[in-house]
Amino acid sequence: MKISIIFFIFLGFVEGIDDVRELKVTYYENLIKSAIREAEQYSLPKDNSLHFQNLSQDIKDFGEFDFIVVGAGSSGSVVSTRLSEVESFKILLLEAGGWDDDLTAIPYISLLLHQSERNWGYYTTPQKNGCYGWRGRRCAFQRGKLVGGSGSINGMAYVRGNKGDYDNWAALGNPGWSFDDVLPYFKKLENFQSDRIDADLRGFAGPVNSVNNKEEDYFDKFSSQFTEIGFDIIHDYNAKKQIGAARNQVHTKLGQRVSGATAYVTPAITRHNFNVTIRALVTKILIDDFEKKAYGVEFIKNGQRFTAIAKKEVILSAGAINTPQLLMLSGIGPSNELEKHCIPIIKNLPVGNQLKDHSVVPLSYKINSTEEHVTLREAISDFLDGKGILTRAGNRFAFSFINTRNEASPVPNIEFSFDYPSPLDIILPSQSNFTDENLKYRELLRGTFNIAIFLLHPKSSGTLKLKSKNILDYPLIDINILGDIEDMETFHDSIKIITKIGETRLAKKYNLQLIEYPSCKEYCHNSKEYWFCVLKYLIEPGLHASSTAKMAPKTDPLAVVDSKLRVYGIKGLRIVDCSIMPTPISGHNNAAAFMIGEKAADMVKRDYGI
Ligand SMILES: Cc1cc2nc3c(=O)[nH]c(=O)nc-3n(C[C@H](O)[C@H](O)[C@H](O)COP(=O)(O)OP(=O)(O)OC[C@H]3O[C@@H](n4cnc5c(N)ncnc54)[C@H](O)[C@@H]3O)c2cc1C
Ligand SMILES: *[C@@H]1O[C@H](CO)[C@@H](O)[C@H](O)[C@H]1NC(C)=O
Ligand SMILES: *[C@@H]1O[C@H](CO)[C@@H](O)[C@H](O)[C@H]1NC(C)=O
Ligand SMILES: *[C@@H]1O[C@H](CO)[C@@H](O)[C@H](O)[C@H]1NC(C)=O
Ligand SMILES: *[C@@H]1O[C@H](CO)[C@@H](O)[C@H](O)[C@H]1NC(C)=O
Repeated sequence: MKISIIFFIFLGFVEGIDDVRELKVTYYENLIKSAIREAEQYSLPKDNSLHFQNLSQDIKDFGEFDFIVVGAGSSGSVVSTRLSEVESFKILLLEAGGWDDDLTAIPYISLLLHQSERNWGYYTTPQKNGCYGWRGRRCAFQRGKLVGGSGSINGMAYVRGNKGDYDNWAALGNPGWSFDDVLPYFKKLENFQSDRIDADLRGFAGPVNSVNNKEEDYFDKFSSQFTEIGFDIIHDYNAKKQIGAARNQVHTKLGQRVSGATAYVTPAITRHNFNVTIRALVTKILIDDFEKKAYGVEFIKNGQRFTAIAKKEVILSAGAINTPQLLMLSGIGPSNELEKHCIPIIKNLPVGNQLKDHSVVPLSYKINSTEEHVTLREAISDFLDGKGILTRAGNRFAFSFINTRNEASPVPNIEFSFDYPSPLDIILPSQSNFTDENLKYRELLRGTFNIAIFLLHPKSSGTLKLKSKNILDYPLIDINILGDIEDMETFHDSIKIITKIGETRLAKKYNLQLIEYPSCKEYCHNSKEYWFCVLKYLIEPGLHASSTAKMAPKTDPLAVVDSKLRVYGIKGLRIVDCSIMPTPISGHNNAAAFMIGEKAADMVKRDYGI
């Protein structure tokens, strides 16, 4: 929610137009500069104790609703807002964080949001085969804690995933989730601001604006090197063909972030049947053990404990980390895990037994860039006109999708993402807890050309477990990064392909030079051993957590919800977020998270005869 807009309209009456523009530039300059200062000082919370300050003993009644949605993230925003379209439904949406704001609206500075209270501040458990660049081999694992969820702090890459991903979901025994089944929801949610070459596959009237990142001519400049190394140039990876190189699409509108907050919740906030309560940490789902039925939730707001009653359903949309945590704390989870923490078992289900993520390796090249630098004030002035560097989701200018194992496959297993050197003369503070050596390496990365390699279908999976029976404690996030040797091999195959970029004509012109990782210098240059070493140091979580409450037929040993997203064996409880993904998708998760929210809202409405 952007308070400043009202403020500036008011100022417009008082001052002259030019003065107002200067004031606006100064407002944003101060906003960004003070956020940078705060980010440098900020230390991430280690647990939920913030919510437990001055906690009351008594529990107050918050009232009765038809549906209680836990978490206003990408999926929760959509499902709650769509359900509130039904006037006879009374909806309560509970969100642990606050509203989005003027800072979250600026696409370019999203890294800055990670060093603030908008991020839960999780770290993984110590990793065996990766995260060597972090102290204690624990990677930072950002999650959004605000309305819009992770979609309010994310990189805004708009990638739906591949037709084959969803057809596979259906083939695994989840009727209603094939590509043809989910396509109407992708079309419903999006408003694609581009040519209508594949009009039958794209949506042009939905709340989520998506645009081609087209302002810079980098793509045109670099596309010759893509063809030189054998990538086809494609116009829209979210349409018929995903394999190839294309301009990246982002979810922004008029140069500002689009999220579940801006596209769904905020426009619906005045609906009388839609109660959005922020800074409310849900601590437990209330379940009648005899009837095996969810009937409400417990939460803490401003040091006060509350209960709220759900007459129809509780919908859990707390994301792929917090949803399984809340389930287990409420007695739904693997019986051995619950017993370990003395949590009474209501339903034994394999919650958290599988945690999937896309891992990512960034490669960096020195480049003899002649690009002009932009000052912050210039960039802000452009931003106010909806253009320029601040309107862009980082420095990314292209994606390329390939399948390293089977060239003929239409489904990629690798995504390359390309960044040009930043033209902006500010430095965004990086996340904490890199090792000293990694920090030194990162010093070399100013003004580099970067290629991030995403592993789209990792073999390795991790787990999400409880640290204790108390929601005060953060859960244990073990992503088991590079846990399977096959993932190392796939990365290595993709590195062999992409480093050919260093031999293209354009690379020669700009004098591209791959920067080596200091700790791996002992290995023979460019050998497999060298790259395996680099992988372990540079690997990062893709932050696309999924599959911790898998949608699958009952016979699947990992099944937690059915194809209508109902928790097996518990009435009145659905899960609507990325936890339900049966397998990871060939893309970033946000578009799919929106789609899951749209589809779930329709399924729920239909179940109640709407
Ligand atoms: C830093 C980062 C960058 C990313 N970049 C991209 C990208 O460029 N493109 C892309 O497509 N995807 C990206 N992703 C992934 C994508 O944003 C997420 O997969 C998606 O937002 C997940 O949606 P969700 O609804 O499952 O969960 P979330 O959006 O995380 O929503 C969960 C919500 O529940 C709230 N909540 C949790 N626990 C409680 C509780 N106990 N009580 C009350 N509320 C609670 C949280 O605060 C949050 O608002 C990124 C993610 C991160 C973190
Ligand atoms: C908790 O109570 C103390 C003492 O009454 C007060 O100083 C403090 O501000 C309170 N904290 C919060 C978060 O309300
Ligand atoms: C939400 O419900 C609570 C409890 O019934 C009430 O105190 C609060 O005013 C409501 N908020 C809105 C915005 O309707
Ligand atoms: C970098 O580019 C400039 C201008 O094109 C050129 O003069 C210079 O020699 C180049 N430097 C290197 C190290 O390639
Ligand atoms: C990160 O660094 C801070 C400050 O040195 C330290 O207190 C914290 O424990 C570290 N966190 C992890 C997960 O290592």
